[in-house]
Amino acid sequence: MGVAYFNGEFMPLESVRISPLDRGFLFGDSVYEVIPSYAGELFLLEEHLQRLQRSLDAIRLESPLSFDQWRAMLEELVRRNEGDGPVDLGLYLQVTRGVAPRDHAFPAGGVPTVFAMASPIAPLPDTIHQAGVAAVTRPDTRWSRCDIKATTLLANVLARQEAREHDAVEAILLLDGQVTEGAASNVFALVDGTLVTPPLASSLLPGVTRALVLRLAAQCGLDVVERDLSESELRAAGEIWLTSSTKELLPVCRLDGHPVGAGVPGPAWEAVHAAYQEEKSRATQSRLEAKGCA
Ligand code: PDD
Repeated sequence: MGVAYFNGEFMPLESVRISPLDRGFLFGDSVYEVIPSYAGELFLLEEHLQRLQRSLDAIRLESPLSFDQWRAMLEELVRRNEGDGPVDLGLYLQVTRGVAPRDHAFPAGGVPTVFAMASPIAPLPDTIHQAGVAAVTRPDTRWSRCDIKATTLLANVLARQEAREHDAVEAILLLDGQVTEGAASNVFALVDGTLVTPPLASSLLPGVTRALVLRLAAQCGLDVVERDLSESELRAAGEIWLTSSTKELLPVCRLDGHPVGAGVPGPAWEAVHAAYQEEKSRATQSRLEAKGCA
């Protein structure tokens, strides 16, 4: 099951014990991050830690660790979970407002709970290149602060489960006729040759992958715009992509049972996906060089 970090100590994941009075458990009073590590290199760590700080600020919780302490802890977590050699890992970290008698208002002088674990990132199956993935649309029933990476994810859980029950990998959420994001991803669509993604707002997470994909798509020569994306534009899109730290850039080839564009991953996805893989290799390579291994 691997090694976890819990309140200052590394231990087997199965030995971690969370108090029933932990506010993360009782109220979902906590925030989290998911950070990929490729061959031992934490990918876009700075961006993830900046977003963690933003989430902590939003829930008025002081960061229990400094930037350097986060980095050191996560690097050690990778090292302890690598086994015989570098593997690709998804690091999950969560900070809660700690343990206190149950009362909705903040406890005085509480001590945050810090937990982190690592799980292997499975490589994307080859079928992605031929057939992409399926998605469904669902109403966005979430709260109005989806820009905070909070662990209160019940609406996302229900939407994702409905996607699975329709043989789809993701639910694309619609609010007032506009796309917000996926249950655990951001959404891009190729509309009349322009790559569109909804602008940052309190209705969606500022995805770290989203920001990188915006940059790479522009570098690939695509016309890129952050603007509202309507349901009808989504349904008529030539390509639809989902982005997230663990799934990278997924081409959606079926939406609600209908083919998207030609029904196979499109050329824009092929180009940006390749640029994304290059970016990952560069990050890994620079780390190996820094260690004198390459
Ligand atoms: N989720 N939107 C939502 C609601 C998400 O949960 C995620 C990621 C994203 C993409 O963000 P990023 O590119 O920074 O991973 C967008 C993670 C992976 C999860 O909950 O497991």
